[in-house]
Amino acid sequence: MSQILVPDPAGIAAAADVLRAGGIAGLPTETVYGLAADATDPDAIRAIFRAKGRPADNPLIVHLAAADEMDTVAAPVTPLAIELAERFWPGPLTLVLDATDRIPSVTRAGLTTIAVRVPAHPVMLAVIEAVGRPLAAPSANRSGRPSPTRASDVIDDLGARVPVVLDGGPCRIGVESTVVDARGDMPVVLRDGGVSREDLGVAPDATAPHVQASPGTRYRHYAPQARVDVVEPSQLDPALAEHRAAGRRVGVVLHSPISVLLPDDVTVIATVQDASALARSLYRCLLEAERQSLDVLIVEAVEPIGIGRAVMDRVTRAAASGTVEEL
Ligand code: TXA
Ligand code: MG
Repeated sequence: MSQILVPDPAGIAAAADVLRAGGIAGLPTETVYGLAADATDPDAIRAIFRAKGRPADNPLIVHLAAADEMDTVAAPVTPLAIELAERFWPGPLTLVLDATDRIPSVTRAGLTTIAVRVPAHPVMLAVIEAVGRPLAAPSANRSGRPSPTRASDVIDDLGARVPVVLDGGPCRIGVESTVVDARGDMPVVLRDGGVSREDLGVAPDATAPHVQASPGTRYRHYAPQARVDVVEPSQLDPALAEHRAAGRRVGVVLHSPISVLLPDDVTVIATVQDASALARSLYRCLLEAERQSLDVLIVEAVEPIGIGRAVMDRVTRAAASGTVEEL
């Protein structure tokens, strides 16, 4: 049986007890809910991989309560890492650095590097402090599924695989952290996320050809059972016409004000003001399309600037067909 607990002191102590005993727990962060375990305990980490059905070659992010603990898991801590930590932590930025041996190889999926961040959520921070150890936490969904942004999403997807989830309310950002290689002089973005390239001072096309994206970006991701189409605003009308002519049940996620006249049989899953609002509600919309058994969810494209870039990355991956995307 799984339990959703209020994150009062008793709830935080209960989750910390589970984690100290080598168990796993669903915890809120500002980006998405994480499935946490003691990052220093190989058996606990294996339990995360099992519960998610996650490929063993996809490393986990280690969460710390404070930036000054970075040198316990990473060395050298580069001047760039210190600067980025000062600017963006606590917050949705993950730094990749060379690892120390405090974090076992299974957490890092055998890599010699470690991904680390200080999240900006009081409940997550309180639990890390109560456990007294770094917590590894991938998004709390079965591998390949949309990430959870509410406590109930965690239970809907993982069910009894997760014994306890702390309910910290809906996630403020709604897409995952930006993963940056911070080993050199300049940040290299491996996965777009809650901190934009503009905020980082990185050119939009700055990923050098020799750079490997984060291992996790190789896999099909974020996919609900409904088919997902990303459509430019000017193509909404023809896209709707095509799906309706084929007899498909169609839902839409649109920008407001709505620029097309919607037929009655099209379900409006959400209307959003801007890219940040779409980031906050995207995964919830994907799950809602599935709950309503829609055949197709049409998401109106946003400009790939600011957080819009991470949103377009996620929605494009949700729309990709096949089981493994080759990069
Ligand atoms: O916002 C987030 O980052 C959320 C919350 C829970 O903190 N976590 C999250 O974890 O998104 P996950 O496991 O779903 O995604 C982690 C990403 C994957 O793409 C993984 O390949 C990459 O980080 N990653 C982890 N360690 C890495 C490393 N050493 N080098 C490169 N990429 C790494
Ligand atoms: Mg994930």
